[in-house]
Amino acid sequence: MYARTRLNAGLTGVLLALFAVISAPAIAAGIADTKHNLSVTGPGTIKSTDQTEICVFCHTPHDAIKNDSIPLWNHTLSTTASYGTYVSPTLDATDAGDIGGVTETNAAVSNLCLSCHDGTVAVNSMNNPSNARPTTTMAGGVTKITGAANLGAGSDALKNDHPVNFTYDATLATKDGGLKAPGSLTGVKLFANKVQCASCHDPHTSQDPTGQAFLRVSMSGSTLCLSCHNK
Ligand code: HEC
Ligand code: HEC
Ligand code: HEC
Ligand code: HEC
Repeated sequence: MYARTRLNAGLTGVLLALFAVISAPAIAAGIADTKHNLSVTGPGTIKSTDQTEICVFCHTPHDAIKNDSIPLWNHTLSTTASYGTYVSPTLDATDAGDIGGVTETNAAVSNLCLSCHDGTVAVNSMNNPSNARPTTTMAGGVTKITGAANLGAGSDALKNDHPVNFTYDATLATKDGGLKAPGSLTGVKLFANKVQCASCHDPHTSQDPTGQAFLRVSMSGSTLCLSCHNK
């Protein structure tokens, strides 16, 4: 009897340990493990040789860019005049205007991404550099994104990309007929009712760790797309 209880306890322990492994949620890696860690500890090729802070490339606690629609922004915004907009005969959204030519005060969340991803601004160009480490030198002198992650700064740069910076409300969902009710979305995010780059992307982490595309929802089975589109 005693031995049997011991055996059961042992078995329970093993089962509990197994359960813990199986039920552990797929924890997305933090920003430190992504290409958006541009500090000395970053895993990518575009990274600093002396800056130890991670957030400073994008945010600052003080002297951030004054704009009510963006979070404590620190990265110099792009002055690109026009990116063009996506057009198609079946598009129902009507307010997806050109997000080029914006100023600091009216830049949208998508302009934050484009401040590095249109390839025109150095990634180490900041509004308010760190007091503790005022210098930020980039490895190999590489300061700009030039590869596939450069969406471009031409006046048709965003014509071939999923539309951004437009209102996704109940009226649009009804008009389109193939969209989920905006109030019922899970995983993805709207910014003041608008679709922005960061609706699909989370710049701090990725649910697709292998692809590292900073996606809020995995692309496996196109789950990301099906988070909004009823297809
Ligand atoms: C490469 C640029 C980048 C870096 C680096 C970065 N962020 Fe962000 N962050 C953004 C962008 C863009 C947004 C706005 C879009 C959004 O909310 O996802 C944002 C939004 C936020 C928000 C408000 C939205 C939310 O998720 O609550 C917080 C808080 C935040 N960041 C904290 C941090 C902290 C802390 C760090 C450093 C550990 C950091 N960020 C590093 C780009 C960055
Ligand atoms: C401070 C500059 C900066 C900002 C702001 C920024 N990024 Fe990045 N991002 C980078 C750099 C640098 C890389 C690495 C590019 C490379 O290695 O070619 C990168 C990589 C990426 C990648 C992965 C590309 C790949 O090839 O693996 C995605 C996706 C991405 N960023 C999306 C975004 C989105 C969306 C936003 C806004 C929400 C954003 N980024 C804001 C600098 C930035
Ligand atoms: C509707 C969702 C969605 C929106 C909106 C969106 N992206 Fe993406 N993005 C994706 C997906 C999905 C991928 C991965 C594509 C792949 O794996 O082939 C991606 C990939 C990328 C990449 C990696 C390079 C590449 O072309 O594969 C970058 C950089 C990027 N996005 C930046 C942005 C920026 C900047 C914006 C806003 C102007 C934006 N994205 C808006 C879904 C989106
Ligand atoms: C955050 C919500 C959201 C996500 C995620 C999303 N979309 Fe969209 N998408 C929209 C909305 C809203 C529209 C505008 C529909 C309209 O106005 O007709 C749109 C437009 C489109 C269009 C253009 C439709 C047209 O009539 O020209 C296509 C195609 C599309 N999305 C495909 C995708 C794909 C593929 C993915 C996944 C990679 C995706 N979307 C992810 C919300 C989303």
